[in-house]
Amino acid sequence: MANFLNKRLDKIQATGSFRSLAGTVGGIDFWSNDYLGLAREQAPVTPTNQRNNNPTNWSSGATGSRSISGDSAVYQALERRIADFHGHSAALVFNSGYTANLGLLSAILKRGDTILYDELMHASCRDGIRLGFARVVKFLHNDLEETLIRIGANEQKSGQLFVLTEGRFSMDGDVAPLSEMAALCQEHGAHLIVDEAHSGGLDGQQGKGLVADLGLQAEVFATVITYGKAFGAHGAAVLGSQELRDYLINTCRPFIYTTGPAPAQWRGIAEAYDKMEALHGEQTARLQTVIGQFREGMTEAGAGRRLTPSNGPIQVIHVPGNDAVMVAEAACREAGLLVKGIRSPTVAVGSERLRVCLHSFNNEGEVALLVETLGRICAI
Ligand SMILES: Cc1ncc(COP(=O)(O)O)c(C=O)c1O
Repeated sequence: MANFLNKRLDKIQATGSFRSLAGTVGGIDFWSNDYLGLAREQAPVTPTNQRNNNPTNWSSGATGSRSISGDSAVYQALERRIADFHGHSAALVFNSGYTANLGLLSAILKRGDTILYDELMHASCRDGIRLGFARVVKFLHNDLEETLIRIGANEQKSGQLFVLTEGRFSMDGDVAPLSEMAALCQEHGAHLIVDEAHSGGLDGQQGKGLVADLGLQAEVFATVITYGKAFGAHGAAVLGSQELRDYLINTCRPFIYTTGPAPAQWRGIAEAYDKMEALHGEQTARLQTVIGQFREGMTEAGAGRRLTPSNGPIQVIHVPGNDAVMVAEAACREAGLLVKGIRSPTVAVGSERLRVCLHSFNNEGEVALLVETLGRICAI
C-alpha cells in the first residue's frame, strides 16, 4: 500500500539528504540556537512574574482560538509589553516563528501585489509567500537595489510592493544592510518586512533586535521576533502598527484557525523578557569572547579561509557536498562535539556547510577542542 512512499524515500536517500531523528544525544552544544544560554537560566523573580505564577492565570491549555476562548487580559498585557520593549506600536503573538511568517505573508500578499525576497530567506517565509497571491521576485543576497529599481517602477501602480529580508541570516549568520534597504523602500514606495528570528534577543540593547537598534521601527512595515532562539523560549510575535495587528486578527488564517498558545508558553515568553532585561548585557559580553576565541583559533589553525565573515554566534565552515558534510558532522560527533551539517536542499547545492552555533556558556576548553577538530577536518 505505502510502496509509493518507499520509492519517494529511496529518492531522498539517493541524494544523501535523508533525515532521521536522533533522540537524546550527548556532547558539547555547538548546534542549538540558545545563543545566550537563556533556555538554561531560571527567570529572575520580579513582581510581574510572581503575579504570573498564580495558577489561575496559567492553566494547562488555551481552550480555543484566541478569537474565541483562548485570549486573556494577561496575554494582551504581555503583547503591550512586547511592543513597548521593541519600540513598535503593536505586537501579536503566534505559536511559532514558522506560523508567524506563514500567517503574516499569506494574509498580506494579495493578487496584484509584488514581493521581492532575499534569495537566502528561510523556508517559513517561502512557504508563506507560496500561500499568498502576489507576484514573487527573488533578489541576490543582500543586494536589493538593482531589482527594486527594475521592478518598483512598474509594479507599485497595480498593487502593493513588499520587500522581505532576515535581520541576521539563519544559515550564514551575516546581517542585512537594513538602514540602506529601508531607505530604498521609502524611495520606491515598498513595505519592508524583517524576520528577526536570529537577531531578536541577540542584537541591540537588551536584545531588542536590529530594527530597534537602528531606530527603523517607523520605516519597517512588519518585524517578526521569534522566541525559540536567543530568547530561549518558544513562539513568535509580529510587530508593527495597530492596523497591522487588527488586520492579522481578522484575516490571518494560521492565527484564527488554531488553538492559541498554551498558558505555559505565554509564561515562558514573559519570563524570557525578564531574563533578557536582567542578563542580556553579561551574556552577550561572554558570547563575544567566545566568538573572538573561535575566529582567532580558526585563523591560527590555517582554516580561516573556510569561514564566512559572520560577526555573530552562527559561524559557517564550507564543506561542499551532502556526503562530505555528513562525514565532517560525524567527525565532530566522534570528538564529542554537537555540530550540525547542513545539506542541500536546505542550502543551495555546492554550499553545504557545518553550521557552528557559539554560545555564551561555551568555555575555553570546549572552543579549543572545536577549533582543533575543525582544523583537522579542513586540512583533509
Ligand atoms: C529565519 C527564521 N525564521 C523563522 C524561523 C521559524 O521559527 P520557529 O522555530 O519559532 O518556528 C526560523 C527557525 O529556524 C528561522 O531560522
